[in-house]
Amino acid sequence: MTPVPDIEPRVAEIRNALHRANHRYYVLDDPEISDAEYDGLMRELIALETAHPDLVTDDSPTQRVGTPLDDAFAPVTHLERMFSLDNVESVDELEAWQARLARALGRDPAGYVCEQKIDGLAVSITYADGRLVRAATRGDGQVGEDITANVRTIDAVPLRLLGTPPELVEVRGEIYMPVAAFAALNARQAELGQKPYVNPRNTAAGSVRQKDPAKTAERALSIWLYQVGRVTGGPELATQWESLQWLADLGLRVNPASERVDDLVAIEAYVVRTEKGRHANDYEIDGVVVKVDDLGEQREVGYTAKSPRWAVAYKLPPEEKTTTLERIEINVGRTGAVTPFAVLEPVFVGGVTITNATLHNEGEIHRKDVRPGDTVIVRRAGDVIPEVVGPVVSKRPTDTPQWHMPAKCPFCGNPIVLPEGEAKARCTGGFTCPSRLREYLYHFASRGAMDIEGLGYKTVDMLLTEGLIKDPADIFTLDPEDLLAFEGWGEVSVANLLGAIDGAKDRPLGRLLTALGIDHVGGTVARQLAARFLSLPALMEASEEEIAGIEGIGPEIAGSVAMWSRDEDNRNLVARLEAAGVRLVDPEPEPAGATASELAGLSFVVTGTLDGFSRAGAKAEIEQRGGKVTGSVSGKTAAVIAGASPGSKLAKADSLGIPVLDEAGFDLLLAEGPGILEK
Ligand code: IVH
Repeated sequence: MTPVPDIEPRVAEIRNALHRANHRYYVLDDPEISDAEYDGLMRELIALETAHPDLVTDDSPTQRVGTPLDDAFAPVTHLERMFSLDNVESVDELEAWQARLARALGRDPAGYVCEQKIDGLAVSITYADGRLVRAATRGDGQVGEDITANVRTIDAVPLRLLGTPPELVEVRGEIYMPVAAFAALNARQAELGQKPYVNPRNTAAGSVRQKDPAKTAERALSIWLYQVGRVTGGPELATQWESLQWLADLGLRVNPASERVDDLVAIEAYVVRTEKGRHANDYEIDGVVVKVDDLGEQREVGYTAKSPRWAVAYKLPPEEKTTTLERIEINVGRTGAVTPFAVLEPVFVGGVTITNATLHNEGEIHRKDVRPGDTVIVRRAGDVIPEVVGPVVSKRPTDTPQWHMPAKCPFCGNPIVLPEGEAKARCTGGFTCPSRLREYLYHFASRGAMDIEGLGYKTVDMLLTEGLIKDPADIFTLDPEDLLAFEGWGEVSVANLLGAIDGAKDRPLGRLLTALGIDHVGGTVARQLAARFLSLPALMEASEEEIAGIEGIGPEIAGSVAMWSRDEDNRNLVARLEAAGVRLVDPEPEPAGATASELAGLSFVVTGTLDGFSRAGAKAEIEQRGGKVTGSVSGKTAAVIAGASPGSKLAKADSLGIPVLDEAGFDLLLAEGPGILEK
């Protein structure tokens, strides 16, 4: 069909108007037309494109959300390497950096650009003739993953550049999730009874790694652009400051907090100001990036193997505040472990309001000597998990008693005991303890276990309150009539839940074993046990010696499994699961490495400070994929993940010939699995 002459100019006109409107709204935060006008134009464009499909182009504002692609995340070789930054953590280190620059140049640099260091996900976006053609993650700096389809869904990323775009330009920036959007997302999670997301950065990273762009589009992501990569046919740029201006002229979102400064004193003032105003922004920052302004000077000082000499990241320390520890309460977890936590007078620290923080166990409470009523120092460890650092003893009222673990569980009234040689106390109430049962059921249905969609805390609580379930086997015999009686539940939601439950009857044995929550049996061990025994009844009849005979399984795990298997209640539970139609036998071993990111059977050492992960966070990422994290490097270590200031573990890894991954390599490992270690 040949395009109709009158239609074509109108289509172009509407598209231009929509591109301009997007720029005003998402980039400049200064809308020019009303939402109603915008919607009207969009509707007209959709109607015209539907009637004339051959007029549809890739950069049309209607084309943000595409269909899932098979080649999503394909490797992309960057036109120019994406370097990372060296960190400095004090004014002294900053001065040392500046002194090195002055030595290399034979004079002080002419000036610097100070920028906020955005805590998000680095991205490279390429525009050819002004049209977005490719977006990629940093990956290892040379090769990243293609995330074009997902980045196109981010409204703050123009599909078409404004002004006079060059033939080709590759720009770099940071995708992030605004703090408000993150809070809204977690509020929704809580409503659904789902676990909250940990932090905006990881959530943003997870969002751009969705297979389906429609999923990414649901997340309110945004972007700041801060660096020009390869350019063909563009203007002569002399400074970083000009580059930022040019990016803005092209309609890209450039952070207005950036400043050009003359000297070290001004850099230090910028750092102080940034740290003070740290949480006034709608996005998280973890430092200040200082760049030599003059691009000629940048070329003169050049790069080390890993990072430019002309730029440095000044890391901001985790923020600390004081507040009152109102009281200490306890949680009973799915295994019966009792964990004390601090109930705090709400305090805003590290960009969030903290109301409680784990205290781990009674020993830890006494070691830190924190007591109910104390004024305490709190911070977010790795800027994420709230932590009580310690008491301000000078403010303690005299005669403040120490805290002790209650003798009886407040949820079920059964004794709390501290097993010989262990740090964690336990509730002895078994599944008669409502707190333990709730946590157990939630775990049973969770992602790494039976993966029953829709069975989060909210639904679990409802089923428990209504007395519909008393143990996991009851999940499989729920009566739709009972569910339909619940407020807000209709045919569809009931059918969805029952469908998800039905699907869970057929999970691989490794999943079922994980779900059963046997002490010391996490995902990795569960899969090892499943691979060896192929059947739950066979495992339950196995001797401790047989179990301990499996490579990598020690006497502690074997003892725990054997004890669990002998327990009458557990035997009953398994019989009832079987009667309800839950599969207890694998027809054949589950293939190892079921997903590309599987790390089962591999052990890792994490050392040094990582940019985007706390130590615990890095460990959790590895363990979620079935891997193990150990404290020391040995011949069995699959790889060492090394952040800044890694220490002696690196030398040990080198001497043993064990691969060492930097943070980008670690990202890649998480995204693509252990295959990358062989390259
Ligand atoms: S410039 C060669 N500027 O920090 C220069 N990076 O540790 C490389 N980042 O991978 C980057 N804000 O993801 C630069 N204003 C900023 C930044 C920034 C955040 C991230 C970026 C980079 C990492 C380096």
